[in-house]
Amino acid sequence: MYSGKAVGILGTGICIPEKVLTNRDLEQIVDTSDEWIRTRTGIRERRVVEKGTPTSFLAERAGRNAIQAAGISPGEIDLIICATITPDMLFPATACIVQDKIGAVSAAAFDLEAGCTGFVYALATAAQFVASGVYQKVLVIGAETVSTIVDWEDRNTCVLFGDGAGAVVLGEVQKGYGILGLDLGSKGSGSGLLTIPAGGSACPASESTIRNKLHFIHMEGNEVFKFAVRIIGTSVIRALKASGLTREDIDFLVPHQANIRIVDAALKRLKLPQEKVCINLDRYGNTSAASVPIALHEAIVEEKIGEGDIVVLVAFGAGLTWGSVVLRWGGTE
Ligand code: UT7
Repeated sequence: MYSGKAVGILGTGICIPEKVLTNRDLEQIVDTSDEWIRTRTGIRERRVVEKGTPTSFLAERAGRNAIQAAGISPGEIDLIICATITPDMLFPATACIVQDKIGAVSAAAFDLEAGCTGFVYALATAAQFVASGVYQKVLVIGAETVSTIVDWEDRNTCVLFGDGAGAVVLGEVQKGYGILGLDLGSKGSGSGLLTIPAGGSACPASESTIRNKLHFIHMEGNEVFKFAVRIIGTSVIRALKASGLTREDIDFLVPHQANIRIVDAALKRLKLPQEKVCINLDRYGNTSAASVPIALHEAIVEEKIGEGDIVVLVAFGAGLTWGSVVLRWGGTE
């Protein structure tokens, strides 16, 4: 069970690029078909940023929207954590750029990288600061421009991803509400399954790394798929156990939006009906660390989540990493 102050979500916000890229559009770019993409992944279209748009552009807007929804001002934010695999640059942190843009003058800021699990890791990290009383308000952002790191000639990857950002403001809520328990994990032996091989210290950028396309996403899709199907159910059950709950208590599941077949497998394992899950991957594709906060925001706007509901966020991704957070929604009045 989670100890310390009760920590919950005070407001959410998103930023979705306007430009739509449909499966039909992709048929013109690589050797693929709308039928293959829909049946293998569930994705129909995704959003992509205009050339030259950095991740901080989306992160800033999602962050501002979450701050507004929480009914606070940027100056009240004590810490910004930005989860991303597509930072504006290797350093400084995108969170620092956002801190400046939104005028969060009192905030510390750092990025957190845990692949597509980044937002769930960031949420769990941020919660510790609030629970301990060190900080009152933390802005947690998941923001990505994955379109900038996929090889648009590689049909194995370019059809899967999209751009976007989601954010939440964390703060103290009434006892019994907010984060009840969590489960985080990693399996570094699978680090080669999903990676950008070059551009870091192991393989600095050079003429040859560019020629060999080592600055793009490389993924063993099949292996990641098998891992995801196994880990989602296991991680959710562990987080529920840490919260003193069981799968029967789940009111709403917000899973990472990578592939409809992975979501369906998770529903089967957890014996949950379709109406208890949020799915938007058909419209946005896999937006990596942004997928969970975008899906959560949409579920709230569509009133699929109500006061007192048990909500479970779950994600998996590069690292390999995984994470689940169990919340009792509300308690902010
Ligand atoms: O956020 C975490 C990151 N990633 C994921 O969650 C991804 C997890 N993995 C997956 O979602 C699935 O493994 C994929 C959607 C990536 C692939 O689906 P699959 O059913 O595992 O297909 P596959 O990799 O076994 O490929 C089947 C065939 C291959 O052809 P051959 O070798 O059997 O002739 C591929 O070349 O499909 C081919 N293929 C395509 N065909 C048309 C791969 N991509 C495409 C494409 N269009 N876009």
